[in-house]
Amino acid sequence: MILIDGKKAAAELRAELKEEVAELKSKHNKVPGLTVILIGDLTPSQIYVRNKEKSANEVGLKSEVIKYPDSVEEKTVLEKIQELNSDETVSGILVQLPLPKHIDKQKVIEAIDPSKDVDGFHPMNVGNLSSGYESSIPCTPLGCYLLIKKIEPNLSGKKAVVVGRSNLNGKPMTQLLLKENCTVTITHSKTKDLKAECLEADIIVAAVGIPELVRGDWVKKDAIVIDVGINKTDNGIVGDVHFDEVSKNAKALTPVPGGVGPMTIACLLKNTINCFKRSQI
Ligand code: GUN
Repeated sequence: MILIDGKKAAAELRAELKEEVAELKSKHNKVPGLTVILIGDLTPSQIYVRNKEKSANEVGLKSEVIKYPDSVEEKTVLEKIQELNSDETVSGILVQLPLPKHIDKQKVIEAIDPSKDVDGFHPMNVGNLSSGYESSIPCTPLGCYLLIKKIEPNLSGKKAVVVGRSNLNGKPMTQLLLKENCTVTITHSKTKDLKAECLEADIIVAAVGIPELVRGDWVKKDAIVIDVGINKTDNGIVGDVHFDEVSKNAKALTPVPGGVGPMTIACLLKNTINCFKRSQI
């Protein structure tokens, strides 16, 4: 079984991006800039944002974090986004989710200039991805896609099963696999026989948020299994895949942690650089 080392893959990607940033700097005499807006004091969000900032600095991006208290008015955030939209030194804007209840998430996402939307959540980018046009691609599915391609460069005709249909993961993952000519089945909580669907798959991407849902006998020999889950349990953090069981069957599997997670942040940096490059044309 191949244990897919997301930490190593992310470090390699960051090294490539660092070189690219240095080249862009010598060509344009400026570097791409990422601005993250963090609202409230949720611990996971604070940890994510700190890691994003650290990685952005490591590859040489200009990075800024704007923090607001939980009580900030929606209007203040929307005005800040407008300001960042017209700031030429800002290539990418990310508003860390989840947001406090009184702030309309969709309003915030739609306020971000699509050309600076490093999350790929703006409806314009969602539409462009599903139409096969150039767009920002949500970071987690992009990271999963790059890991899958490392194991299997030619995905044409492969059967892929995506478990979970969220806008963040399942839906964009489906679009990426479709673009590679996979035959994709999207499954979710109302799917009748999830085990039977998974048993058909050459590739399984589990992004449903249910601890250890995908069991050893759900997985075909030689399947590539990507685990997007991060679930807190009494036994610590586990994914959506039963690691011990599935590792006995699958051809390749991502661990949790150390699989998809590190790639997500590296892909955010990649998206920021891409936004910068498109803005320089
Ligand atoms: N919170 C958890 N994951 C993400 C993500 O990919 N983007 C944003 N903006 N917030 C998140």
